Amino acid sequence: MNNFEYYRPTRILFGKGQIEQLSRLLPRDTKILMVYGGGSIKKNGVYDQVTAALKGFDYLEFGGVEPNPEYETCMRAIELVKKENIGFLLSVGGGSTLDATKFIAAGAKFAGQDPYDIITKGLPVADALPLASVITLPATGSEMNGNAVISRASMGLKASFVSEKVYPQFSVIDPSVTFTLPVRQTLNGIVDTFVHTMEQYCTYDVNTPLQDEWMLALMRVLIAETPKVLADPEDFNARANIFWCATCGLNHFMSLGCVQDWATHGIGHELTADYGLDHAQALAVVLPRLLQTQKATKKGKLAKLAYEVFGVNEPDEIKAAGVAIYKIEEFFGSIGMKTHLKDYGIDRTEAAEKTRAKFAARDIHLGEHANITADTAYEILMGS
Ligand code: NZQ
Ligand code: ZN
Repeated sequence: MNNFEYYRPTRILFGKGQIEQLSRLLPRDTKILMVYGGGSIKKNGVYDQVTAALKGFDYLEFGGVEPNPEYETCMRAIELVKKENIGFLLSVGGGSTLDATKFIAAGAKFAGQDPYDIITKGLPVADALPLASVITLPATGSEMNGNAVISRASMGLKASFVSEKVYPQFSVIDPSVTFTLPVRQTLNGIVDTFVHTMEQYCTYDVNTPLQDEWMLALMRVLIAETPKVLADPEDFNARANIFWCATCGLNHFMSLGCVQDWATHGIGHELTADYGLDHAQALAVVLPRLLQTQKATKKGKLAKLAYEVFGVNEPDEIKAAGVAIYKIEEFFGSIGMKTHLKDYGIDRTEAAEKTRAKFAARDIHLGEHANITADTAYEILMGS
């Protein structure tokens, strides 16, 4: 097992009716900015619950954060934060709204010219406004991590930063607010969670049996709960289990001491930047092909996954690894998640060439062996 250090100061309030706890936890001595997305919260009652809890607080609202949150939108919010002397940010929405809130928190305190340098130049976040979230979509784990992914269309970029300074102070997770998720977003969340787990699990063994079993268990539970929410979107227990899978899927706890991959995400972000695919749609296209190209080095973990998640009975390790890849793609297909670029009308040669050029320009090396380079990404997308 590799060395690790773990620190997670985020308080989690999980369950029905927890939004009212905002009135207990939010600060009363500073002005709050409530940040939200395109309006789903106004249709599903979340806005009403939040504003009821905010009665008596000094707060303003900033709406309109788009999926795959855009730099320009965040910059407008940063201007407002400075003008209004905001002291605390409350994100109400999905991972995009929360990621934007994290960037706003860091950007408002950024001492240099352009806060996007935190992302492109990897500048450290020296300071950030405190923030919290009401998370309404199980997918990103952003509610319990310090990551944020921000797009900058004018530069053709979708990229991330990570900082302890933007851990939410607390996150409210009420699974009943996910009853209103469109099927597409429910599936996106399930696939994103599955792929997060794969990125952390499916590398090579460094003797982490407990972590491996947690991650395999998460995948088993996710697969078992998925048909329940598709059959009945208001199945509270299934929604709750899926949400907790998503949060645990990327609070970085279950993979402590493990070797990680993250190449599927790296390539997937390029597809989203170039073609506007939803984050999880891009991941579902990349993952099976990436596993295929890396089967020889990932075979131990893949075979274990075949046995423990899919109940495969195939003693030959490399054959079992192949079956695992097949089963993953079959799972995505069975819930209606497409796994080929052509399913979205995207020309794979063009996509592969674009990604190869961008990876080459940035000299990118991803994956647990740092062997996913421009040429490997090209090969992966040509196979899709
Ligand atoms: O914008 P509104 O109107 O709120 O609608 C949203 C949006 O259209 C809607 N929605 C959210 N909750 C809802 C709801 N509709 C009905 N009922 C609800 N309860 O769903 C749509 C998608 O929302 P979005 O926030 O974009 O989805 P998600 O949570 O999947 O976030 C995706 C973003 O997170 C990044 C992705 O790259 C992408 O930009 N990621 C962030 C990570 C992190 N911070 O750790 C890790 C991930 O790997 C990922 O990269
Ligand atoms: Zn993801």
